[in-house]
Amino acid sequence: MSLKTTTFKRKGILLAGGSGTRLYPNTIAVSKQLIPVYDKPLIYYPLSVLMLANIRDVLLISTQKDLKNFQNLLGDGENFGLSISYAIQDRPEGIAQAFLIGEKFIDNNQSALILGDNIFYGSGLENILSTTSAQHNESTIFGYPVENPRRFGVASIEKGKVISIVEKPEFPLSNIAVTGLYFFDKDVCSRAKQITPSNRGELEITDLNLSYLKNSNLNIHLFGRGFAWFDTGTPEDLVDASVFIKTIEKRQGLKICCPEEIAWNKGWIDDNKLFRLAKNFQNNSYGQYLEKLLKEKH
Ligand code: DAU
Repeated sequence: MSLKTTTFKRKGILLAGGSGTRLYPNTIAVSKQLIPVYDKPLIYYPLSVLMLANIRDVLLISTQKDLKNFQNLLGDGENFGLSISYAIQDRPEGIAQAFLIGEKFIDNNQSALILGDNIFYGSGLENILSTTSAQHNESTIFGYPVENPRRFGVASIEKGKVISIVEKPEFPLSNIAVTGLYFFDKDVCSRAKQITPSNRGELEITDLNLSYLKNSNLNIHLFGRGFAWFDTGTPEDLVDASVFIKTIEKRQGLKICCPEEIAWNKGWIDDNKLFRLAKNFQNNSYGQYLEKLLKEKH
């Protein structure tokens, strides 16, 4: 499909590989990122984040075993006004490996990487994402205060600037976790090639961030109170995320991270297309929600 936008070139990578062993037996036959979070598959949430950042050209990276299921779900992206292509990561050899696998796709453009198990929610998110995305020569990570920083990459910040980042520190210097959403300038692939595997044998995203910190610039945007970020690594995280999404959606009658709605709001799909998509889910509340969008417009 040809995308009618623009000179806007930032490319998006959705990293949805890994073995999901922490969620076994849930993820023996099904990829973790395809598990439902309340009313939609987990992957819809990070995909929506890329869309809110005005990114329409997306590469989804997953394992050979799981890739066909993502293709069944998302196809070439046309239903969402996107172009989605696919690539295989044979083994989970690190998040930064996405930039080696995706080098041709990125083709020297700016990019954004999002982990397929990260969920973001908060008022003003679209504005933050689209502003960050439009800063073509900048690289930006996002921080979020957490109770248990040992599980994450942890950033130390002084006067709004990142001073250091440590991956899963035993003694964290702050409570600011680095979330799984990264905007990079066009040098990212050459920087990724300079990284060597860590003690646990992975090309660490933290090392890539540190490379920017060392001899370039790395911005951090802090999501404050009123924002929700979930990294859905455990069964508890998945339940928490589902309950959270259900609570807000039920209260407001609005869906969180519904890619059809985002595409339609952005004018990437028209009324007819949305109508046809709604008909695919005619007998359930997801389809009724899409129909309601059309009815309320007129
Ligand atoms: O969620 C944010 C955190 O994600 C960051 O704070 C950390 O700095 C970053 O290293 C990462 O930590 P995790 O412990 O959550 O990474 P994990 O190995 O669980 O991978 C995150 C997701 O990325 C997971 O859904 C599987 C996928 N993945 C991971 C690796 C290492 C891949 O698809 N391929 C990979 O090679």
